[in-house]
Amino acid sequence: MTQKPYTVDELISAKAIAARVEALAKEISSHYADTDKLVVVGLLRGSFIFIADLVRELDLPVEVDFMEASSYGNSTESSREVRILKDLRGEIAGRDVLVVEDIVDTGYTLKHVLEILETRHPRRMEVCALLNKPSRRETDVTARWVGFDIPDKFVVGYGIDYAQRNRNLPHIGAVRFTG
Ligand code: IMP
Ligand code: MG
Repeated sequence: MTQKPYTVDELISAKAIAARVEALAKEISSHYADTDKLVVVGLLRGSFIFIADLVRELDLPVEVDFMEASSYGNSTESSREVRILKDLRGEIAGRDVLVVEDIVDTGYTLKHVLEILETRHPRRMEVCALLNKPSRRETDVTARWVGFDIPDKFVVGYGIDYAQRNRNLPHIGAVRFTG
């Protein structure tokens, strides 16, 4: 695939991310202090670095599982569909589940994933999203924990890609087209 030339402008530094992840982990650890075993569900692929950093800061017994969903708009724009490309390995019935997402944008992906997981009757289910674009929301989903609210910009880094690139950037940056 040919890509238009672009550069990446730093939006959130690696240091700021680390500090925020530590603060989120403290809140999450105290919220689940009474829980036997939390199941942390990472939504692939964008959340892989965030979940790796987050779980290492949690002061709790946790299980980690992954799910991969792909969202795409169909021709009518108003209806969005989400496909499950990889399902969880484990059972979540009766369990406390924390869904970890990279970005909540329109919210369709998260909404569909939560609807699917609800049918399996978790005991409680909450969401932690690294980034949130409130101005883009088209659904009623909310994340209980959000790392950063960001403006309507296309971002990359810290696990998040543009056409599969830039996931390995240590910071979060905004894509700016140069050509
Ligand atoms: P939603 O269904 O519109 O909320 O889309 C959420 C998904 O779209 C996220 O999990 C990301 O994978 C992707 N996404 C949304 N905004 C961005 C962005 O700025 N950069 C890269 N991926 C994004
Ligand atoms: Mg995603």
